[in-house]
Amino acid sequence: MKNVNSFRAYRVHPGGQFGAGRADAMSRDQLDAGNVIVRIAYSSVNYKDALTARGKAKIAMKFPLVVGIDLAGVVESSEDGRFKPGDEVLVHSFGLGAEHDGGYAEVGRFPAEWIHPLPKGLSLFESSALGVAGHTAALAIDLMELNGLAPGKGKVMVNGATGGVASIAIDILAQRGYHVVAMSGKPEQAQYLKDLGAKEIIGRAEIPERQRPLEDAQWAGAVDSVGGAQLGWLLRRMQRDGVVASFGNAGGAEFQGNVLPFILRGVRLLGVNVNNPFETMNRLWGRLATDLKPRHLERIARRIRFEDLDQAFDALLASRVTGRQVVDFSLR
Ligand SMILES: NC(=O)c1ccc[n+]([C@@H]2O[C@H](COP(=O)([O-])OP(=O)(O)OC[C@H]3O[C@@H](n4cnc5c(N)ncnc54)[C@H](OP(=O)(O)O)[C@@H]3O)[C@@H](O)[C@H]2O)c1
Repeated sequence: MKNVNSFRAYRVHPGGQFGAGRADAMSRDQLDAGNVIVRIAYSSVNYKDALTARGKAKIAMKFPLVVGIDLAGVVESSEDGRFKPGDEVLVHSFGLGAEHDGGYAEVGRFPAEWIHPLPKGLSLFESSALGVAGHTAALAIDLMELNGLAPGKGKVMVNGATGGVASIAIDILAQRGYHVVAMSGKPEQAQYLKDLGAKEIIGRAEIPERQRPLEDAQWAGAVDSVGGAQLGWLLRRMQRDGVVASFGNAGGAEFQGNVLPFILRGVRLLGVNVNNPFETMNRLWGRLATDLKPRHLERIARRIRFEDLDQAFDALLASRVTGRQVVDFSLR
């Protein structure tokens, strides 16, 4: 007989080197500890989620684990005075989708300290379309501007341009008045990148084989989703006092470089990690709902069914996805 208390969840179980994910069912008595129960409406698909679900990196710290590093939904019940049934909320970080059950489930339980009230100015769908990717883009741009980047300083390069973080970064930078140069391995998506606000598009294949210690200075800023060889290439092309925000490794974790960009041009390499104190995250969510709110979220993000998750992971890992995929639990 069907258990009326069971709900859909995508969980990673022991198997392979780092676990194996599959669509599953679970019940409320299996929820992780917390004092707020959330009925999850949306959860986005991030590169890290695909790695977790496919067991391609050591991310799952417990089995079984509900995958999904961010979510948006409505409070069902709360034992904490800060939240009441019906409140719209979003949750990410604090080990979500790695140490604590994440977003690919219809119900989740979380400590109140991790939960952000949905900022005024964002819908639940918009907050999930942004998710960890949008938060990373906002943090990168916030840090770059704190380190001197401004529209008058010169062009900003965004690589891995059709990816989730990069698409949102292009949109935010363009509306702030930056001249954005997008680098992508998908030449057929040039119009998409222009629609988001990119002024110039460079193909990934255009990176020359020959590398000199310093190249012509081209960019005042660079938003690097890719890492690997592309990061070394970017650093050698930065202008005097240029700032590079590094947060991704879609193209590899190791890079080769030399100190000349730093000591001759004052280039600043900024590390970006979203796991910040709650207040820092909350401030950035406030900005994502106001001055950093992207204008093309409906163009960037596509709703998918829970049942489509396996396909979504494989497409993301094969670099076939443009923008963001968001699980919409109301779609059947
Ligand atoms: N540090 C943090 O706190 C943090 C937070 C969020 C994300 N991240 C990381 O940031 C990166 C981007 O995340 P995402 O969710 O935006 O991923 P994504 O949607 O998969 O985007 C990555 C993009 O990188 C490009 N790419 C993929 N494989 C590549 C390769 N082998 N060589 C060069 N370019 C390649 C592709 O863009 P094109 O086809 O357009 O070139 C792809 O769309 C990931 O590494 C993720 O783990 C880190």
